[in-house]
Amino acid sequence: MKTALVTGASSGIGKAIASALLKEGMTVIGLCRSVDQLPDGVKPLACDLRDESAIKVAFESLKELDILVNSAGLAYLSRICDGNPSDWEEMWRVNVHALGLCSQLSLAHFPESGGHILNLSSMSGHRVPPTGGFYASTKFAVRAVSEALRAELKNSGKKTRISCLSPGFVDTPLLDKYFAGREEQLAETRANIDMLTPEAIADAALHILTSPASVEINDVLLRSADQAI
Ligand SMILES: NC(=O)c1ccc[n+]([C@@H]2O[C@H](COP(=O)([O-])OP(=O)(O)OC[C@H]3O[C@@H](n4cnc5c(N)ncnc54)[C@H](OP(=O)(O)O)[C@@H]3O)[C@@H](O)[C@H]2O)c1
Repeated sequence: MKTALVTGASSGIGKAIASALLKEGMTVIGLCRSVDQLPDGVKPLACDLRDESAIKVAFESLKELDILVNSAGLAYLSRICDGNPSDWEEMWRVNVHALGLCSQLSLAHFPESGGHILNLSSMSGHRVPPTGGFYASTKFAVRAVSEALRAELKNSGKKTRISCLSPGFVDTPLLDKYFAGREEQLAETRANIDMLTPEAIADAALHILTSPASVEINDVLLRSADQAI
């Protein structure tokens, strides 16, 4: 039976992926702060991803892992021209720094035959929307970190696979934060776009994570059929 660690398993996409992996018969560990929000059956691993030493302690408590899903992330609407740098710092810490560190620390727990890391990037990691602000830079960085690690592993003969998922709008609590102060715009976006569900992202994640060991799906871009850009 495989063991998967899912960061951000208390909400949205991470929660749906954790539930899908549980249904698949895997042992699932959920890393987040609100461990009371994890799906039933997911083993809690409380950790604040802004805290590097807490991440190290959390990984020290782990045994074997086969899969790491880095879903934890946050999106403030924070422009470069006048956004609050403390919002940038929190997004960078959780979306990029913690994702890199969790990836590094997971390697020691993977079997010799290789593990699998799935990172949540975004369509905002492929093109910068006008409101992308600092968030988009973190999602470009997720793809860069993923590709760098992939090359490092291949160059040292390691079998671990690295994949990314890059969704457009997914209807989760993340959007409330991103659209804070622009609730009308969120309502309009919801009215115009039949947004992706977290379960649709979990389906794609399952496809990636259950693909044959010889297949490494590097990135999947998913948008609602209504989303133009
Ligand atoms: N929703 C979208 O439209 C969309 C589109 C493209 C990409 N994405 C990406 O998909 C991923 C998941 O987003 P989502 O929409 O599912 O968001 P969400 O529903 O807001 O969930 C975010 C998760 O991240 C965790 N998290 C945030 N800060 C944390 C911290 N300091 N320490 C530990 N965990 C933390 C939260 O857990 P706790 O609060 O319990 O700690 C929560 O489980 C993110 O990386 C996001 O950038 C989302």
